[in-house]
Amino acid sequence: MKDDPNCIWKNPSIESYYLLNRWSSLKMTKFLDLGCGLGRHSVLFAKNGFDTSCFDISENAIERTKVWCQEEGLTCDYKIGDMLKLPYESESFDCILCRNVISHTDTEGMKVIIKELKRVLKDNGECYLTLGSKDTWGFKQETWPLKDPNTRLKMEEGPEYNTPHFYADYKLCQELFKDFKILNIYQVIDYYESKDKVFDSYHYHLLIKKSTNK
Ligand SMILES: C[S@@+](CC[C@H](N)C(=O)[O-])C[C@H]1O[C@@H](n2cnc3c(N)ncnc32)[C@H](O)[C@@H]1O
Repeated sequence: MKDDPNCIWKNPSIESYYLLNRWSSLKMTKFLDLGCGLGRHSVLFAKNGFDTSCFDISENAIERTKVWCQEEGLTCDYKIGDMLKLPYESESFDCILCRNVISHTDTEGMKVIIKELKRVLKDNGECYLTLGSKDTWGFKQETWPLKDPNTRLKMEEGPEYNTPHFYADYKLCQELFKDFKILNIYQVIDYYESKDKVFDSYHYHLLIKKSTNK
């Protein structure tokens, strides 16, 4: 079945154009699309001259990203794995985009992921990532048990039943990324309609920099 070209996961996010501009003017070249999904950002960055690595836990996501890149005549590196243990050497990347990826983990897992981000970034390298916010409806579900103070186990029937969902607030973002320089942090509310109802979802968006001078 052909993808709907208007599907949000097939169109680059608004801020990715800002990052493309910023990271190009900083002369960055080595780009990691961490949790690349269908590949909308891999294609955008590779088309604009970045040496692009596509990484995802899902074999299907990597396959679809590969097919799309090949259709566009783009050559990228593709790897399947879990971001808890990235299959890259230390200081491999100038810039990393990790949008709508980090969710199904707990506080300990989150700390491991952040260590991995720091390890694979070059000095002065930057990462843009999003985290679910404690203001979002999921964290307010008091019938979903807390696994730790920032993680709830989802109790909705379906494929995510009993999986951990991690949520942050401003103070926690500052604590988690204390070894980085936080260049930007803001909270975004996305509205979407489904079955005649309007849903909102809150995420923190962070632009962070690895800096030995911090
Ligand atoms: C909602 S999609 C977002 C895709 C892409 N970042 C984008 O903005 O279009 C989340 C992606 O993260 C991947 N993912 C989730 N957990 C992961 C993990 N632990 N390691 C690597 N990829 C992961 C999923 O397989 C999925 O493709």
